[in-house]
Formats: sequence, C-alpha cells, structure tokens
Amino acid sequence: MREAERARRQAYAPYSDFPVGAALLTGDGTVVHGCNVENASYGLTVCAERNAVFQAVARGLENFVAIAVTAREGKGAPPCGSCRQVLHEFAPGMRVFWRDGRGRLAEETVDGLLPYAFVLKKEPKGKKKKVSA
Ligand code: THU
Repeated sequence: MREAERARRQAYAPYSDFPVGAALLTGDGTVVHGCNVENASYGLTVCAERNAVFQAVARGLENFVAIAVTAREGKGAPPCGSCRQVLHEFAPGMRVFWRDGRGRLAEETVDGLLPYAFVLKKEPKGKKKKVSA
C-alpha cells in the first residue's frame, strides 16, 4: 500500500481530481507501479490497476501475486469492473488490497471480486505457446 501511495504521485487526473495509485507485486518480489492517466476525451482514460498490469506485461514479468490500490485519504478505491476483468486475465487467484472510504484495508481475490469472469481461452495465442520457425 505504501508503494501504491508512491505510484499515486504520478497520477495524471486533472479532470476528475481523483488520483489513484497501484502497486503490483510479482512472485520474484518485483513491484510495478501504475497510476491513472486521464484524457481530454474522457473515455480514453486508463485506470491505475490496468496501467500497472500493462507495464508489467510489457516488461515480460509474470506470476502476479498481489496488487494494492489507493486513492487519496478518505476515498475508497476498489478496482472498477474493467480492471477486475483485466486482472482476471493474468491472475484470477491474485490478492487485491485497497482502502475503503474510512481508510481501512480491504482484501479479496480477483475471483472473489469478479465471479463468472469472461474467459475465452486459457492460453492466448502467441503468448505462452512455443513458436516454431
Ligand atoms: N480509477 C482508477 O484509476 N481505478 C479504478 O479502479 C477506478 C477509477 C480512476 C479513473 C479516473 O481517472 C478516476 O479514477 C475517476 O474515475
């Protein structure tokens, strides 16, 4: 959660004034930061959680074990529905920590936050499969 608070400092949220930070922990102890990045065309905004996941994937990291999410003090920040689906893609059993509106720490698995998640394939094409020349 301390790392998520650090990540929040980089948030770009001039439209909502609702900065969010996320810290994603991988199995080898690497922590990847993510923050929300808004846009004048509001719908293009990316949440802190998805930003963290996409950055981790781009760095070739895997085995996501936990993610912490925080908005400003007094503002609850459970992951939104879109982020739950993206988290589920890579780590359905991952632990998710966030602060509720009273500053209390809340915890749930991704599966618990998104029962009946949409799943298309267990092994997305081109990712985990070995490619032969
Ligand atoms: N936001 C996140 O970064 N994560 C969430 O799970 C919920 C919402 C951001 C998106 C937008 O920049 C701001 O919070 C207000 O919706």
